[in-house]
Amino acid sequence: MHPNLLAYNNHEVFESKKELQEYRESKLRGVSNNVKFIEREFGDNLRVIEIGSGNSKFLYALDQQSLLKFGYGIEVSSSRIKFANDWKKELGIQNVYNYEDNVLNVNFDYLGQADLVYCVDLAFQFIDPLEPGSDEKLLKRIYNHLEPDGRLVLELDTHKRLIDQMENNSLKTWQEFTEPDPWKYLLWNCSLKDKNIVINKTFIKRDFTQTSDSEVILKNYNRHDIISMMQKIGFKNCKVYEHWDEESDLLEDEFIVVGEK
Ligand SMILES: C[S@@+](CC[C@H](N)C(=O)[O-])C[C@H]1O[C@@H](n2cnc3c(N)ncnc32)[C@H](O)[C@@H]1O
Repeated sequence: MHPNLLAYNNHEVFESKKELQEYRESKLRGVSNNVKFIEREFGDNLRVIEIGSGNSKFLYALDQQSLLKFGYGIEVSSSRIKFANDWKKELGIQNVYNYEDNVLNVNFDYLGQADLVYCVDLAFQFIDPLEPGSDEKLLKRIYNHLEPDGRLVLELDTHKRLIDQMENNSLKTWQEFTEPDPWKYLLWNCSLKDKNIVINKTFIKRDFTQTSDSEVILKNYNRHDIISMMQKIGFKNCKVYEHWDEESDLLEDEFIVVGEK
């Protein structure tokens, strides 16, 4: 199977209830600026499809702010879907459906028309490396499943900070985390192949008892690339935003693009 489909296997599995509770609370806090942006730009009573929805924190936060009519989260990692469904039960949320699959296999007809399709935190960049040309195909399907005037929100990362440090299209670097993070070191091994950046990460536990490896292949888009692709499909009024609600909530290499049907 492609590494991008496996990258979040066994992610968000917690041993302690306290740790789980703190994690859930921090995830809802972490998405509050995104929710403010959506409320400002889109209002309420929203029918939302999120692609690469992870633990569905965004959909739950929208619901808690009474902005959601219904939401579908599409996520390939079964442990994340389980996490999302357990959390949903605890929150008593009725109108969010978590759908476990590779988005490229999902029949959008079952999801109904949406006011907002939302795909953030690199999730869109996982798609094209699965099958070249699949990013454009997915954008077309999104376009077809938006209501007239419905909008797509993408958050992307150019990875310029990594690419600028590369020699011969490759980079090995590391970083250290402070306590209480259970991981002490993160080793990065990155390479660039055309538009795709291959990122291998190795986390090393603070007590050196465990390491954790992952590999993802992400397609890089700059602001011009993605807007041209969206316009080719028919999106209009494509607009770039440099943050959600405050200057510091995105890195310089990250940006948001919104396009309208
Ligand atoms: C960087 S995470 C972002 C998760 C979430 N949107 C967030 O903001 O926390 C990317 C997510 O996309 C999921 N993903 C990657 N490729 C996918 C695919 N082809 N279909 C469905 N989900 C996918 C991953 O499993 C992962 O949970």
